[in-house]
Amino acid sequence: MQIYKYKDYDAASNAAANLVIQEIIKKPNMILGLATGVSPIGLYQNLVKAYENDIISFKKIKTFNLDEYVGINNDHPQSYHYFMNHYLFDYVDILPENINIPATDKKNIEELAEEYNIKLFGNQRDLQILGIGKNGHIGFNEPGSQLGGQTYKVKLDEQTRKDNSRYFNSIDEVPKYAITMGIKNIMYSKKILLIALGESKAEAVYKMVHGIVSDDFPASILQLHPDITIIVDEAAASKLNMKSDHLVF
Ligand code: F6R
Repeated sequence: MQIYKYKDYDAASNAAANLVIQEIIKKPNMILGLATGVSPIGLYQNLVKAYENDIISFKKIKTFNLDEYVGINNDHPQSYHYFMNHYLFDYVDILPENINIPATDKKNIEELAEEYNIKLFGNQRDLQILGIGKNGHIGFNEPGSQLGGQTYKVKLDEQTRKDNSRYFNSIDEVPKYAITMGIKNIMYSKKILLIALGESKAEAVYKMVHGIVSDDFPASILQLHPDITIIVDEAAASKLNMKSDHLVF
């Protein structure tokens, strides 16, 4: 694990964007795994700027998102389809047919999950962007998820619903289910970039890096990935005891 610490959200977002930009320049037709949430917003804003400044193009890039809620439409402001359009896709030259986000709009959710899973195995990600939940979830793989699990319909953890309720009018509106890439799908990426920002992630970052690898804390499996970069700000790094801004673990 390569861990890089930056002063704050903006500095960390810049660093994350620089890494992604370098990867896109190296391989303009890369397959990119995307996350939603607060953590990658600054990264996406920087990618939009890089596109506007002609540094990168998304024309040949294919994307695969980690997850999507079940029970809200794609045009709901809290859906991950909406999020991705709002923070990235609407502002860059990505081709609509190259965008992949789990579909949750039909009755048979299990079948939709299986279809997404098949696509994922045919499209190994060159780079997967991740955030981390306070409870160690990655994607929506909550504590207790199978470490070898593939794309599936997941019941959301109450902690996760509570954390995400700040974006809805009330907790009752927060969906109870989602489709998520499984941990096996996430690990099947050549490179991973995880972004963890803010004090509330400090404990989770510590456990991800130093904890026992266990399904009790799904992000701990990332210790076994051969090429993972973790970008943190000072607050999220506060329990790591980092003597310099770069730690290899
Ligand atoms: C998002 C996702 C989640 C988030 C995690 C952190 O697609 O799958 O695992 O990455 O909940 O969210 P934020 O960044 O909002 O703290």
